[in-house]
Amino acid sequence: MAIPRETVEQILQAAHIEEVVGEFVTLKKRGSNLWGNCPFHNEKTPSFSVNPARNIFKCFGCGKAGDSAKFLMEHEHFSYPEALRYLAKKYNIKIEEREQTAEEIMQQSIREKMFNINEFANKYFVDTLWNTDEGKTIGLQYFRERGYLNPIIEKFQLGYSPAKWDAFTTYAKQNGYSDELLEQIGLSLKGNKGLYDRYHGRVMFPIHNLTGRVIGFGGRILVNDPEKKSPKYQNSPESEIYDKKQTLYGIYFAKNAIARQDECILVEGYFDVLRMHQIGIENVVASSGTSLTMEQIRLVKRYTKNITMLYDGDSAGIHAALRGTDMILGEGMNVRIVVLPPEHDPDTFGKDFSVEYVSNYLKENAKDFIRFKTELLLKDAENDPIKRGQVIRDIVETISVIPDSIFRITYVKECSRLLDMPEQTLTNELNKILRAKLKKTLGIEDNVVVPVPETNATTQNQDETVEDQLPAGYYQERELVKLLLMYGKEMIVDERINESGERILEQVSVAQFIIDDLKNDGFVFTNAVNQKIFNIFDHAIDEGIIPDDSFFVSNEDETIAERAADLLSSPYKLDQWEKYGIFVKQEQDVLKATVLSSIYRYKDLIIEARRKAVEEELKTAADPDDQLILLKRKKDLDDIRMQINKELGIVIAK
Ligand code: CTP
Ligand code: MN
Repeated sequence: MAIPRETVEQILQAAHIEEVVGEFVTLKKRGSNLWGNCPFHNEKTPSFSVNPARNIFKCFGCGKAGDSAKFLMEHEHFSYPEALRYLAKKYNIKIEEREQTAEEIMQQSIREKMFNINEFANKYFVDTLWNTDEGKTIGLQYFRERGYLNPIIEKFQLGYSPAKWDAFTTYAKQNGYSDELLEQIGLSLKGNKGLYDRYHGRVMFPIHNLTGRVIGFGGRILVNDPEKKSPKYQNSPESEIYDKKQTLYGIYFAKNAIARQDECILVEGYFDVLRMHQIGIENVVASSGTSLTMEQIRLVKRYTKNITMLYDGDSAGIHAALRGTDMILGEGMNVRIVVLPPEHDPDTFGKDFSVEYVSNYLKENAKDFIRFKTELLLKDAENDPIKRGQVIRDIVETISVIPDSIFRITYVKECSRLLDMPEQTLTNELNKILRAKLKKTLGIEDNVVVPVPETNATTQNQDETVEDQLPAGYYQERELVKLLLMYGKEMIVDERINESGERILEQVSVAQFIIDDLKNDGFVFTNAVNQKIFNIFDHAIDEGIIPDDSFFVSNEDETIAERAADLLSSPYKLDQWEKYGIFVKQEQDVLKATVLSSIYRYKDLIIEARRKAVEEELKTAADPDDQLILLKRKKDLDDIRMQINKELGIVIAK
């Protein structure tokens, strides 16, 4: 049915963008806007903003922008009417729908029809469970025997599908649903005698998307069938609204708890999710028995970077835990693993023990993934030297997927201890892998040496150790190189005024920002190695690819590799601002402020050194013309310093 225009306006006015977006994206308030990681592209620092005053969202990274309806259309792939209906429901606005024309009925999207029939079926299964004799004595009884209580059965909208072959199909057809749709959505199957119920005689689990709409079902058989004539679970086939690789069972009920606790517990099965919720652990979702996909990991990543995998204690469970983990690590997320006692799965474990025991067990047994894998593989290899060699390669391979070099270095240290191997051996192995990967991403043949541009630094000072012999700006120079290495790829918002006096906001990488700024003002690093790194970034920006820190840590030029490892190994927390009592919530802001202040401090010290040199020269200059030139130069340098300090002041004051 069509929605009248006035109602559309009413809905869009009632919808608060921050509430609509907030269902899907974790937002943090900063100033008058809210910020979060953009759900439409992959990013580490939030450039996705929500403006409650204007009731719109905009991503400064990918450019997507619009109102609540637009957001839902992009994010949930809703049609426009679907988005409006969703909002109307959320804000309790009644849609006075007028009769649809035949054409409008025809045009109603297939997705809408599918959501509609799933909702219809879900109601039917729930109603059958609670209100029919068969449902109560068989379905409800089954849940009861497994120790499930009403609140959880209701919350997850569990249901029952009658044993009769075509009970649901017949009922659906009586209510006007077509054979075609029933088959497409997978609620019915085609047999010799026509359509019959896919789930007959099973307890039902509706599968919800992020917004709580039913996109599919899982149905469990009631008696375990030793001959395995029919599978334990029947699941919906994929459809226009059900994409298995993008779905996690329970995400709708878990997402808030996941964000709040900054952790997602991953289990395998429907009942595992139910049990955890029943005992009060709500940040739990299930991969539903399949191995984890990239899409599922990204889904979790919207809410947290921390995944804890909770798997059965049997070897199949442990094996399942190993799958998918490299993918999680590759996304820069932290993975921990909890292995349950061999006879348990999360469902039985939660049933047999108290909440306190379970929570404690999780806390005490959560093992960092790398440590878990190392110990496990090591046990398998025992004292077989060939197997041990494989273990080492396997572990280093895993470490190499971690994007953050600081974590990689930490793991190398840890594994060197666990494997009783020299750290250097592991580092060499790791660098070999990283270099090969880099060559692959840059499209360079394997036998080509990755070139390092010649340095054009004029002074070739080596780093000095004695403080007062250090060249001017020594620490500031290192600081800038460190920023390049650590945050070179990150985007910050550059603000400038264009010719017509308008304020322009632009996304630029930290590397480009620093390089451009220093190059424009003709600064050259004093230290040759630093300048080499500077030059690599300079070239890379021209080529459009900014190298990862691994490019430097694994560089053929050992002086570069050494410098990079040195600078990267002391973690750089963007927290110096707290020292000034300035609390900046937003990471991107802190990053920009840090970059700016580092540049200004560096320049300030260099200029000061030049000014001092001029003063020295003045003392000995006899010729009045020379004196005049030197005085003019001193004055210029003073002006520059004042300008720098003014800007530095602005940065600090911000
Ligand atoms: N699964 C499935 N089809 C099967 C078996 C399993 O889709 N034939 C999926 C289900 O999502 C199931 C999960 O894999 O929840 C884990 O499988 P399993 O451990 O065998 O089932 P449990 O959830 O433990 O179910 P139960 O406790 O009832 O045996
Ligand atoms: Mn189970």
